[in-house]
Amino acid sequence: MNIRLFKPSLGQEELDNLKEVFDRAWLGNGPTVVKFEEEWSRYIGARISIGVNSATAALHLALTAYHFPAGKKVLVPAITFASTATAVLYNNLIPVFVDVEVDTVSMDLEDLRRKYDKDCVAVIPVHNGGYPVPMDKLMVIAKELGLKVIEDCAHCAGGEYKGKKLGMWGDIGCFSFEEKKCMTTGDGGMICSNDLELLEPLRAYRWVGIDKDTWRRAENANQHAENEAMHWHYEISVLGYKYNMNDVAAAIGLAQLHKLDSMNARREAIIRRYLDGIKGMKNIVQIFPYETGNGAYWFFGVRCKDRDKLILHLKNKGIATGVHFYPLSMQPLFKPYAHECPVADSIWETFITLPSHVDLTHEEVDYVIEALKEFDNQ
Ligand SMILES: Cc1ncc(COP(=O)(O)O)c(C=O)c1O
Repeated sequence: MNIRLFKPSLGQEELDNLKEVFDRAWLGNGPTVVKFEEEWSRYIGARISIGVNSATAALHLALTAYHFPAGKKVLVPAITFASTATAVLYNNLIPVFVDVEVDTVSMDLEDLRRKYDKDCVAVIPVHNGGYPVPMDKLMVIAKELGLKVIEDCAHCAGGEYKGKKLGMWGDIGCFSFEEKKCMTTGDGGMICSNDLELLEPLRAYRWVGIDKDTWRRAENANQHAENEAMHWHYEISVLGYKYNMNDVAAAIGLAQLHKLDSMNARREAIIRRYLDGIKGMKNIVQIFPYETGNGAYWFFGVRCKDRDKLILHLKNKGIATGVHFYPLSMQPLFKPYAHECPVADSIWETFITLPSHVDLTHEEVDYVIEALKEFDNQ
């Protein structure tokens, strides 16, 4: 056996959509991006969505939307992917690392209150692995402290908390469609919100500051060919980035979006099988409490004191594993911003992510469970 940790689930629907884009021969930011943005908005329940080329870009621009003065602080969880905190640095802001809860690996809201000071302007809750941050509680705290809330939904496309889609609880939601995520566009991301005025300017920021998309100008040129010589005109009044999504990515994204709920359901079935399989094990427990039927979980993970030995045991059986994630303040870049996060610093050493992608067969999941059992019984 050779079992991959992550694998995108792709099929004929993606190819059919790509064919349309090829036939139109417009591969850059164009009408397919607009269609994907509109369908995403309808799916998630947002008034506006903006397609970008990654969640890293989405997080960067979400903070840019507020034009916070340099040197202000943004609260981020201690355990997350680099981009949650690099987005803060890109905006000349300071990350403040908040510890995680021992059982859920979710931002500890008590520690958030402890770490808060008057320079804090925003918080980026991360639904780590798809486990939802208790957004009802966080929104009350954020309101009290005057914090803007940018949800990092890189791991939970389609997930809900208390009946409301993740990404729609905070002021802005940022999603990742990188190849390993709940759904993919190869690389890609989405920024969404109900605040049109806040997000509309980001269209220029994602397109090197240019106020009109090229394809709209091309369309305009075709429609007013005889009397309009200025179809090419545009204005650059902000320092933007080359962060736009393109039609190739959006074509894949539209097909993936149509399958998102069923892919999430399949992942949940795999997780339930794992949960049954590890029941009663002495040395291996689930990484956090999977409340199946609630969120959209990106991966199945476990905790084991002998983490590195278990990784090698699985590797020798052809089973790929990962660790999500290092506490960021352990990384050299973030050391200057290190704060006390004793829970994050201790629990991460037990984390192992197991294969849980949608195309895994039951036989493959059972093979991984058998390998875990063998290790547990040693
Ligand atoms: C929590 C989190 N936020 C942001 C990102 C960045 O996503 P992208 O690869 O789309 O930039 C990731 C990527 O893994 C992530 O795990």
